[in-house]
Amino acid sequence: MEHKVLAFAGSPRRGGNSEKLLDSALAGVAAAAPGAAVTKIVLNELKFAPCQNCGFCSATGYCQFAGDDMKGIYEALDASDRFVIASPIYFASVSAQLKTMIDRCQAIWARKYLLKRPHANPDRKALFLCCGGFKHDRFYKCARQVIAAWCVVLDIKLSGELFFHSIDARGDIEKHPTALADALSAGRELMK
Ligand SMILES: Cc1cc2nc3c(=O)[nH]c(=O)nc-3n(C[C@H](O)[C@H](O)[C@H](O)COP(=O)(O)O)c2cc1C
Repeated sequence: MEHKVLAFAGSPRRGGNSEKLLDSALAGVAAAAPGAAVTKIVLNELKFAPCQNCGFCSATGYCQFAGDDMKGIYEALDASDRFVIASPIYFASVSAQLKTMIDRCQAIWARKYLLKRPHANPDRKALFLCCGGFKHDRFYKCARQVIAAWCVVLDIKLSGELFFHSIDARGDIEKHPTALADALSAGRELMK
């Protein structure tokens, strides 16, 4: 069966550094698996609220507020088996757009850990792409932990990750000697 790939652009800056990484990785995905169905979600263009910790999902496994744009995301998260997540570092973590989506996955946490219904597909893999303006990778460790925790909850193996520091102004990523080629290779690798 062909893979279903779900890609998240976490930055509000369209065509920015992390989205360029994402698009390169998706070119790698398409090269390695031309038949794969790819859905790219630009989180900043959707409307969904932060988790309210209302407790509804603890009893049901579903979010009572999923009438917002999380509805389509929940469906895509469930149906997909390959994931590419791209985010800039914002204050030592992932962007708020991405973190808000991740927090809404509390419903999936409840389904797995309270209602004992983990995801049925054992072959789910993710690639995390990230960049930050500072000249070190200290902040990446925090962002990576957020993504790693999300992957555990969703029964996804975090099989690839790339981080580029000193990437700040729009277009900086294109001046990096290897970043876009690295993302392309990582996208190919994800589909192996
Ligand atoms: C609100 C905000 C917070 C930021 N915080 C950090 C940070 O903590 N560490 C860092 O290395 N870069 C930080 N940056 C810089 C961005 O990560 C950097 O500009 C990145 O290349 C933006 O990627 P994008 O073009 O995909 O949006 C921050 C930028 C913004 C706008």
